[in-house]
Amino acid sequence: MSWLHQFPTRRNARPLGGTVLLVATALLATGTATAVPAAEPAADVRATTLGAQAAQSGRYFGTAVAAGKLGDTAYANILNREFNMVTPENELKWDTTERSRGSFDFAPADRIASHAASHGQRLRGHTLVWHSQLPGWVSSITDANTLRSVMNNHITTVMNHYKGKIHSWDVVNEAFADGGSGTHRASVFQNVLGDGFIEQAFRTARTADPAAKLCYNDYNIENWSAAKTQGVYRMVRDFKARGVPIDCVGFQAHFGTGGPPSNFQTTLSSFAALGVDVQITELDIAQAPSAAYTNTVRACMNVSRCTGITVWGIRDSDSWRSGENPLLFDGNGNKKAAFQATLTALGGSSATVAARTAGTRSAASAAALPGSFSWSSSGSLIAPKPDSAHPGIAGIKDPSVVHYNGRYHVFASTASASGYNLVYLNFTDWSQAGSATHHYLDRSAIGTGYRAAPQVFYYAPQRLWYLVYQTGNASFSTNPDISDPNGWSAPRHFYSAMPDIIRQNIGNGYWVDMWVICDSSNCYLFSSDDNGHLYRSQTTVGQFPGGFTNTVIAAQDSNRYALFEAANVYKVQDSNQYLLLVEAIGSDGKRWFRSWTANSPGGSWTALAASESNPFARANNVTFPAGAWTRDISHGEMIRAGYDQTLTIPGCRLQYLYQGLDPGATGDYNTLPWRLGLLTQTNSPC
Ligand code: XIL
Repeated sequence: MSWLHQFPTRRNARPLGGTVLLVATALLATGTATAVPAAEPAADVRATTLGAQAAQSGRYFGTAVAAGKLGDTAYANILNREFNMVTPENELKWDTTERSRGSFDFAPADRIASHAASHGQRLRGHTLVWHSQLPGWVSSITDANTLRSVMNNHITTVMNHYKGKIHSWDVVNEAFADGGSGTHRASVFQNVLGDGFIEQAFRTARTADPAAKLCYNDYNIENWSAAKTQGVYRMVRDFKARGVPIDCVGFQAHFGTGGPPSNFQTTLSSFAALGVDVQITELDIAQAPSAAYTNTVRACMNVSRCTGITVWGIRDSDSWRSGENPLLFDGNGNKKAAFQATLTALGGSSATVAARTAGTRSAASAAALPGSFSWSSSGSLIAPKPDSAHPGIAGIKDPSVVHYNGRYHVFASTASASGYNLVYLNFTDWSQAGSATHHYLDRSAIGTGYRAAPQVFYYAPQRLWYLVYQTGNASFSTNPDISDPNGWSAPRHFYSAMPDIIRQNIGNGYWVDMWVICDSSNCYLFSSDDNGHLYRSQTTVGQFPGGFTNTVIAAQDSNRYALFEAANVYKVQDSNQYLLLVEAIGSDGKRWFRSWTANSPGGSWTALAASESNPFARANNVTFPAGAWTRDISHGEMIRAGYDQTLTIPGCRLQYLYQGLDPGATGDYNTLPWRLGLLTQTNSPC
């Protein structure tokens, strides 16, 4: 979004030429952009075992262990070499620990626990309350008081025996039904005690061993769209809201050959955003395709609260699904291709690993994207469509776009002599963009008046779409259905007033281009001041959209035109890299983009392609097969890999929807004929 729209007195004061810009060029060449420093983790080297590699990111890598196999030397050797977490595969289940009422047998699990202790491995406790592998004496109880005391006694006695020795307990396993109900499955616990049995079990467990993390564990909850996933999500959200003790959710991850659903990471991050750890607890994948293991591990690596991964057995011959060869070692204990894929995914991409091994921090942080870019541009794809109620619209600007449900959904500013508002259109592919209907959002509760520079995303923790935009303050509206232009709520503000630090630094600039991105713990709100400052405020995922405080200068440049406005921040898929784009006004008076990377949205930004001769996107690195309809590459948005609040973009074949302008156009800034076009990266390394 450009300045000037709200300040008619500045309309003829465009900083597009003369001595000011010569100064700008000189400053740009010296690269004076600086950023607020942030702590970075120490450099690592690549490990050769799963446990050691996972430990480099603070995670564990575990396996299910059968007590009866500890005497098998080949088995024990792999166990001791590769894994730093152990889950007894059957030995802590009710039919082993309390086969008859009140008579407990811990001998098999103790053998595993002592093996783990002597090899520096931690233990997951699996499981206390489960409808399966449950002795008949329990499943035949029909009296609620009896069953409640039996369940509480079981939890307390087993947890007491292992008190202080268990990293996480699967307190309740598989309590939700398959299929579309999203409710609990039938079981003796459900049937006799009712819905409250899960809460009861967690409360009892917290008292028994306050040091253990308490998990809910289940299968077929990896797909964010599944009713079962949503049912568990609602339960965890409710537990957190009411203070029922729960610390983690285990995703069993027993997958078919295709591996995890494509939205598995969204599932993990959405649960994590509720304030619980997430773990992959029983991973195995039919035929163990490398790509499927890679995708699973990456989903966890990309979510900071995904604290560890456990595979459900060591060799294919040890697996409960041995006919499907789903594990990382073959029956002879040899590493399979999936082993290498898993190890690599735990350590980042091979390029990142190589750079880290060489000890070059900046190379490591920039490895996922190339250091220079070239693009091919479409012609003008989207032009204003004035209607009788919006007759004077001259430009369509500042697009935000997501691909969702098979359609592109584009939000943009409309510019006219009378001011700015917002428009929405959707279409299936870019060839349809020009014919899509324009829905003017002033007809929704967003209302008329100054609204501009929209940013759209789905806030998964609240299952709501957000439209962030500027009104003079940083504002937003929400909508349960992105495709309903009338569904947007009235504007609300993120801040009660302009934060002090902005007021102190804005000079004669303008507060524009608000931008939100979240990681698994925090949300960040960026904005620009057309005066060389990029600001950043922070809140927690749980508090969003409230709580934005701690406003700081995230980046600044003594030349205001070098760090002007239209900042975008993205997560690069399958990497630990974030990308910052900021629009500059060049020495030729034309708009262009500079880029930086960091390892967190709140981190320190390192220049990637940030000069006029090596721009992120500028007329000099864009070809125009359909004709050079613009020399400005101005305010826009990347085509994302997803649509949620993590703003994840692909690492390959980037596309950028931007605003361009007929180079011959003249006149009042607000009536310039801005149009939208699409850049496609032509130098993608992958
Ligand atoms: C399996 C074990 O691997 C088998 O040895 C046993 O016969 C049946 O149970 N979900 C769970 C695990 O939570 O406990 C199950 O383990 C696999 C599915």
